Amino acid sequence: MKKTLIAPSILSADFSRMGEEIRRMEQAGADLIHCDVMDGIFVPNITFGPKFIADIRKTTRLPLDVHLMITKPERYIDVFADAGADYLTFHYEAAESPVDTLQKIKKRGIKNGIVISPDTPVNVLRGILQHCDMVLLMSVYPGFGGQKFIEKSLERLAELTKLALTENPEILIEIDGGVTVENAAAIKAVGAQVLVAGNTVFSAPNAAAVIQSLR
Ligand code: DX5
Ligand code: ZN
Repeated sequence: MKKTLIAPSILSADFSRMGEEIRRMEQAGADLIHCDVMDGIFVPNITFGPKFIADIRKTTRLPLDVHLMITKPERYIDVFADAGADYLTFHYEAAESPVDTLQKIKKRGIKNGIVISPDTPVNVLRGILQHCDMVLLMSVYPGFGGQKFIEKSLERLAELTKLALTENPEILIEIDGGVTVENAAAIKAVGAQVLVAGNTVFSAPNAAAVIQSLR
């Protein structure tokens, strides 16, 4: 079985001490740093943009997993690639042409990925997964950290895993939202290989122990 990767979401970090917060996660054994970019239109919240990503890039050697929650993400591929994203994922619901956008990211020489929100059927990814390095299933409505895991995401994840097996067995399957030490085993059992965790890791006094348990 492949190693489970843990991606702390910096949305739950103290933004005024971001460098230290990222170092803390690196020392605690994180595999990726998950960065949530929100535009206040596709989702109700606003976070940060490419300058922030470029600054974070200098603070860590861990891969940056940049999750775009913005409308028409195709407009911003180049700026986020230039800023130093290693994985660049965007929402199926937000893109005008998902496959073109995936290919545009690939052309920049970084990993690409598509994201679906909780109400989007897994089926829409048929014919798309073969173009992706990563696929991200949202297990909360995008916009905020610290929400409760939507239980039906487990079924959706199983369906996605099955689809990926026929369309692209090498794809990395990531889950994002409400991941805890309690539900991590059930999530991994249905095929997630990358677990995003915000509140669970950042609120813990001993992040290393939590990351170990999640893994
Ligand atoms: C929500 C973001 C998540 C969020 C996860 O829109 O995409 O990455 O930070 O936070 P937790 O793990 O606290 O649910
Ligand atoms: Zn995210």
